Parts: sequence; C-alpha cells; structure tokens
Amino acid sequence: MKPRSIVSILDLSTEEINNLMDVADDIEKNPEKYQEKCRHKILSTIFFEPSTRTRLSFESAMLSLGGSVISTADSKSSSAAKGESVADTVKVISNYADIIAMRHPKEGAPVVAAMKATVPVINAGDGGHFHPTQTLADLLTIRRTKGTLSGLTIGLCGDLMFGRTVHSLIEAMLRYPGNNYILISPNELRLPEYMREELAKSGAVWEETTSLEYAIPKLDILYMTRVQKERFFNEEDYVRLKDTYILDEEKLRSAKTDLAILHPLPRVNEISVSVDEDPRAKYFYQTLCGKQMRMALIMMLLGIQ
Ligand code: NCD
Repeated sequence: MKPRSIVSILDLSTEEINNLMDVADDIEKNPEKYQEKCRHKILSTIFFEPSTRTRLSFESAMLSLGGSVISTADSKSSSAAKGESVADTVKVISNYADIIAMRHPKEGAPVVAAMKATVPVINAGDGGHFHPTQTLADLLTIRRTKGTLSGLTIGLCGDLMFGRTVHSLIEAMLRYPGNNYILISPNELRLPEYMREELAKSGAVWEETTSLEYAIPKLDILYMTRVQKERFFNEEDYVRLKDTYILDEEKLRSAKTDLAILHPLPRVNEISVSVDEDPRAKYFYQTLCGKQMRMALIMMLLGIQ
C-alpha cells in the first residue's frame, strides 16, 4: 500500500489537524513521554533550497522522539547537482529512511516525490506554492495565543503572491468558521488568482488593501511575511518592493492589545527589532510550536501512538 504523504495542508482533515495540536500540547506538558517514540526510525531531510529553521526543526523533532536523521543540507552537495531526478532520489532514499521531509524550488516536486517514494514524504516547501508544516506551526501558535481558530480577523501582509506559507495558512483557516481576512500587499504582490477564487468560493469575508495602517486596528492576528527575493525575475523589482511594509512600535499603537504578531521567519526588514520585546510578538514562540507539530506529524505518519 502507498504510504501516506503530506503535500498540501488539505491532505490532513480538520479532525487530524486538531488531533495533532492536542498531541503537541501533550508534548509540551510531558516531553519525556515522547523521547523514545521513534527509536530506530530514520528521518531523511532533503532540501534543494536554503533553509535553517524548517530543516533543523524537522531534525530536532525527530531527535526529540529518539529517532535518527540523515540529511543533505543543500542541493549543490547532493546528486541533484549531477542531474538526478526527484523520482530517482526519493526511490533511493526510501531504502535508507522511514520518512522523508523535502524542500524543492519547483512547485509540484513533492507530488512526484510522494508518488515515487515507498515511505511517507512531507512537503517542507515547494517553490511559491505550499508549506503545510509551517501552517501547522501557525495554527498551534494561533490556538495557544488566542484560544481559538474561529471568529478571528487575520491580516496577511507582504508578499502574498510568492509567500507559500500564506497560501497554506489561508487554506487551513478557511476550514474554521467565521474568520475574516484582510490581504495587505503591494498590487504587484497580490494573492494569486487561484487563491482569491478559493476565498471567494468559501463565502468568507475578505478584502484587499495596500495599507497596513488601515488594517492594523481591526486585526486579531497579523501575519507578516518577507518579500521572496528568490522568486523574482528582476532584481530591480525586488529592491523596489522589499521594504514596502515595516512593522514598528509606532504602527502598533493603533493595534489591539491582544493582537498576535506572527511571521514564518526569516525576517529581513519587515518587523523592526524593537517589536521583539512587545508581548504581542509571537514569531519566535512560533518556531517552538513548529517543532512540536512536526513531532506530532512524524508520529502520525509513522503510525506511532
Ligand atoms: C518560509 C519559507 O521557507 O517559505 N520560511 C520557513 O520555512 N520558516 C518563509 C520565507 O522563507 O520567507
């Protein structure tokens, strides 16, 4: 039987996502209960694009479960540099590891990997498309800080065109009722049309604006993103757009006192360092939530209770 892989956040049911969050909460309370769960299991991380936190988060998650990790840190040192296909790479790695986390610059590469691998594949980011495990981190951060995933006004700000974390987060939040969306971006970096259509079909209340100042007072969640330099064809466009939004204490004056500020990281300039001390800043805490959700997901895909 084909093993279960996670390419998109929609590959998980709402019930499964809720269960994963419950497991992550239990990991937070009783980490020792989990430290041998993946003993003798091997995770392979294959990343064909730069990453610090996602790869290390997966590896730290597996090590905290008592498992082991084998890894290719970058595509230049792997056989992809010799021209090997994704299909061949994952067929080989299926003989070495029990589960694979893969990042690839081409949208859809994890679909091919999931078809060809004989072990579960987790998409750790494919081009400007999706990033389901970042979304699991985001959902847990929201649930823990707001106590709910419903009835929230969520502002998504920055590069909504290429920001794959935004696409996966919207798909997930649409599953929870009563959320409103304010999409804050320059015109050139609007949410892709296929995602806007999903919003329109869902019946959710949503609007687009170029003004962060306009949106801020209305928000329960502000999800800041980096302008995705690596997806631009033209350096000039990147330079022109990169600092469109910079969140600072001044802008936060009109925000709710219980706003939660999220960012998938890495941050470039979009959040001033002075905001880090604000109790509303949750983006470093978000990385801890990510590790715990990846632990829960690895166990689920390996069929470990
Ligand atoms: C994000 C990504 O890779 O899409 N980073 C991450 O995984 N935490 C966001 C980004 O690179 O801007």
